[in-house]
Amino acid sequence: MGEDAFMEPFSSMVGVFHCKIYLLLFGTCLGLTVTVPSHTVHGIRGQALYLPVNYGFHTLASDIQIIWLFERPHTMPKYLLGSVNKSVVPDLEYQHKFTMMPPNASLLINPLQFTDEGSYIVKVNIQGNGTLSASQKIQVTVDDPVTKPMVQTQPSSGAVEYVGNMTLTCLVEGGTRLVYQWLKNRRPVHTSSTYSFSPQNNTLRITPVTKGDIGNYSCLVKNAVSEMESDIIIPTIYYGPYGLRVNSDKGLKVGEVFTIDLGEAILFDCSADSYPPNTYSWIRRTDNTTYVIKHGPRLEVASEKVAQKTADYVCCAYNNVTGRRDETHFTVIITSVGLEKLAQKGKSLSPLASITGISLFLIISMSLLFLWKKYQPYKVIKQKLEGRPETEYRKAQTFSGHEDALYDFGIYEFVAFPDASGVPRMPSSSVPASDGVSGQDLHSTIYEVIQHIPSQQQDHAE
Ligand SMILES: *[C@@H]1O[C@H](CO)[C@@H](O)[C@H](O)[C@H]1NC(C)=O
Ligand SMILES: *[C@@H]1O[C@H](CO)[C@@H](O)[C@H](O)[C@H]1NC(C)=O
Ligand SMILES: *[C@@H]1O[C@H](CO)[C@@H](O)[C@H](O)[C@H]1NC(C)=O
Ligand SMILES: *[C@@H]1O[C@H](CO)[C@@H](O)[C@H](O)[C@H]1NC(C)=O
Ligand SMILES: *[C@@H]1O[C@H](CO)[C@@H](O)[C@H](O)[C@H]1NC(C)=O
Ligand SMILES: *[C@@H]1O[C@H](CO)[C@@H](O)[C@H](O)[C@H]1NC(C)=O
Ligand SMILES: *[C@@H]1O[C@H](CO)[C@@H](O)[C@H](O)[C@H]1NC(C)=O
Ligand SMILES: *[C@@H]1O[C@H](CO)[C@@H](O)[C@H](O)[C@H]1NC(C)=O
Repeated sequence: MGEDAFMEPFSSMVGVFHCKIYLLLFGTCLGLTVTVPSHTVHGIRGQALYLPVNYGFHTLASDIQIIWLFERPHTMPKYLLGSVNKSVVPDLEYQHKFTMMPPNASLLINPLQFTDEGSYIVKVNIQGNGTLSASQKIQVTVDDPVTKPMVQTQPSSGAVEYVGNMTLTCLVEGGTRLVYQWLKNRRPVHTSSTYSFSPQNNTLRITPVTKGDIGNYSCLVKNAVSEMESDIIIPTIYYGPYGLRVNSDKGLKVGEVFTIDLGEAILFDCSADSYPPNTYSWIRRTDNTTYVIKHGPRLEVASEKVAQKTADYVCCAYNNVTGRRDETHFTVIITSVGLEKLAQKGKSLSPLASITGISLFLIISMSLLFLWKKYQPYKVIKQKLEGRPETEYRKAQTFSGHEDALYDFGIYEFVAFPDASGVPRMPSSSVPASDGVSGQDLHSTIYEVIQHIPSQQQDHAE
């Protein structure tokens, strides 16, 4: 029988191949190579474990002998089984446990027990033109697979931010050589100022808890043969209130001032981040007195019902578990509809135009007031009337009084008829004015009016 036929499927080709590699590496071909898994083989208790072995040789063989030994630390190696050609001779003590199908040197262990953990040694002897011999060692571990872990939080009722501590414990019923890892939002948790672990890492302690610790926690437990992750738990952490804000459904908000139109109702909404949800109360402030007007997150203010044009309010948020509160003050200003319309006109005109208009009006008013105060025309006129003889007036009126009359005109005109045209005109009530009226007519009429006004004004003043 040729070696090729005998070694099927460990063909001579494989042997040659191995030998070539060996030659390459060590410079000589020893003729026999045995290859086994280089890493530790992890077995599951109660299941079968297969230890694969390949061997090849480069010579004619008459006898092929395979021997399996088992070795544990600090104990004598034990013979498990051996074979020559195709006949297997087991150790009778283990004959039902170990199986080999020569010339296939692989070993099947079934069922695997914890006591089967250790080193397995395989030795191959080839009897041909001389004897070739090689052996290898395989490390085997035996574990129970991990069962699904469960996370327990302590205290289960939750903890108050910055006050309470929390311990997460990972509980696993089955599994050997467990390695624990904590995940927060799918990322590993590392030791920090607030996170600490037990020596086995099976408990995670948070001291103290903060809002930032809220997240999806899970416990990942691994061993050589399996890994399992717990369900996600979210620790109950009481916090807040934070970020208290008041918003309204309408109206204009500038800082803490809300502007609403007269006749409008406005709905205010108070919100703050907190767990458990805050209780809200609304407080109205008038002078020194404050009184609670409503409980709950919303407040409706109808502008008609507010006596003042401005009203101060406070929204108060209270977390009854953390015992913390926060409040925000705001002012409501009620604008009249007229102002609103002005604002609307201001939109159609340009804002500059409206400002200019108002400014112009103010300037003119101020100028009028100033001039009126300065000249107080009725007094001046009266003095003139008293101080001058009537003849002078007549003379002025009839003959040469053009300048004097002009002096009088100026004062009169400014008080009664501020007119851009500059043309003196009659009050329409007394005499219908027309541009065609002669200077003579104007003069006489003006004197009449002057005589009336001072007395009226004086009566009014006194
Ligand atoms: C093994 O097989 C070879 C060739 O088939 C034979 O020469 C040898 O005697 C056998 N050895 C044993 C122990 O049966
Ligand atoms: C040895 O036997 C096992 C099954 O028992 C098989 O899976 C494996 O391929 C065999 N190895 C060789 C080298 O024939
Ligand atoms: C056996 O080995 C000897 C020396 O090592 C050698 O001379 C002889 O040719 C070999 N025989 C076979 C069949 O390989
Ligand atoms: C939380 O832990 C710290 C430090 O271990 C401790 O001082 C504090 O009393 C603990 N708080 C509670 C509520 O147990
Ligand atoms: C936490 O888990 C829930 C679903 O269980 C998911 O909706 C949420 O986005 C997760 N949060 C984070 C921060 O990963
Ligand atoms: C515990 O976890 C930390 C960080 O995740 C890691 O560095 C450490 O090796 C772990 N310890 C054990 C015993 O698993
Ligand atoms: C408001 O309170 C202050 C001090 O509490 C007091 O001096 C003041 O008179 C009070 N004003 C009114 C209008 O009650
Ligand atoms: C806190 O307030 C909620 C209502 O928002 C109430 O249901 C709960 O009983 C209160 N808890 C305590 C401890 O007062």
